[in-house]
Amino acid sequence: MKGLNKNILLGITGGIAAYKMVEVASRLTKLGHSVHVVMTEGGRQFVTPLTFQNITLNPVETDLFTPPRHYEVKHISLADRAEICLIAPATANFIGKLANGIADDLLTTIIMASKAPVLLAPSMNVNMFDNPIVQENLTYLREKGYEVLEPGTGYLACGYEGKGRLPEPAELVEYLLRHLTVKDFSGKRVLISAGPTREPFDPVRFLTNYSSGKMGYALARAAAYRGAEVKLISGPTDLNPPLGVETIYVKRALEMKEAVDCLADEQDIIIMAAAVADFRPANPQKDKIKKSSHKQEHTEIKLLPNPDILAELGKRKRPGQFLVGFAAESRNLSENARDKLRKKNLDMIIANDISNPRLGFASEENQVLIMTASSSNQLPQLKKLKLADIILDNILHYQ
Ligand code: CTP
Repeated sequence: MKGLNKNILLGITGGIAAYKMVEVASRLTKLGHSVHVVMTEGGRQFVTPLTFQNITLNPVETDLFTPPRHYEVKHISLADRAEICLIAPATANFIGKLANGIADDLLTTIIMASKAPVLLAPSMNVNMFDNPIVQENLTYLREKGYEVLEPGTGYLACGYEGKGRLPEPAELVEYLLRHLTVKDFSGKRVLISAGPTREPFDPVRFLTNYSSGKMGYALARAAAYRGAEVKLISGPTDLNPPLGVETIYVKRALEMKEAVDCLADEQDIIIMAAAVADFRPANPQKDKIKKSSHKQEHTEIKLLPNPDILAELGKRKRPGQFLVGFAAESRNLSENARDKLRKKNLDMIIANDISNPRLGFASEENQVLIMTASSSNQLPQLKKLKLADIILDNILHYQ
């Protein structure tokens, strides 16, 4: 993986999830990073500094005023050295101090003095996490440029069920690695569409599909981490907008087309991951359609074809622009993908077989074939986040 041997500061505050950080420190050290652990007094109640010292092979710092080993202003030198800081678990107390500019121990002074990106991983009881004061502090810190990782939901050490779990070590490591990712998409403008479209019959009913938007959002997130200027045009989904991505929300295919058309010309790369509905009701009603108005056994609904946004992008593609489409197929994957690649004038197509019910739509994983005019690469089953990176690697390679 790109970008090894980074200087990573792990700040550990007083939450039971501090034990998970032993594995985080271990994984990062094994990957070749230089890991420096700073523990608050609360953090030291849960895990000893010695544990981290032995794992990271670096001294663990705990106190602002202990004399340094060689002369340096400790909090400044630690702040300057760090290329990224992860505070995990971040307690309500730590979050409150940071949001209010209080720097009364080693960790708060380091974070205040650091110019490196700071990731906060809140972990606490669900009611504490939901407390409006904590939420307002987190919102404020986000506005100030701190990245706040969503806590997981599930069984909490306090006996409650709910939101407040520290993400698992593998996930925390993933976040850090993504931040440390080489910005090989910097200067590139990327437009991505995601999710389904909704084609209304009347104000309460619509035609749609099972797309969750996960693949398109994963691509947007990964491209942004890699330094691209990303615009995401999203149909209705339950997903949070990816950080650092300008997200434009649409519902109908015609709205998606309008948004895409507006932005297409200025893009270097366009990826149409949206599952655009191919048809829309011909006569959407202003008022709710009443049961009583359809007494006969069969009711017919007239549909009109929607424009194929991708095919039209293929027609107006400017020189140097790289156009990527998706293909959801239930049979003849490779032939159908090649056919769409050619007919829609695409540079790349990502084809997946939708006959496997555990993969594709709404699932966390997918298995795809990446095809260009001169290549065909069948990938194994992968998490969509991982897949997004591989698709981007391929785009860079063939662009
Ligand atoms: N697409 C689009 N506009 C549409 C339909 C699809 O831009 N009205 C795009 C999708 O975003 C995707 C690609 O076309 O990138 C392929 O969609 P898919 O549904 O697999 O194929 P279709 O071209 O619609 O063909 P068919 O449904 O017949 O397989």
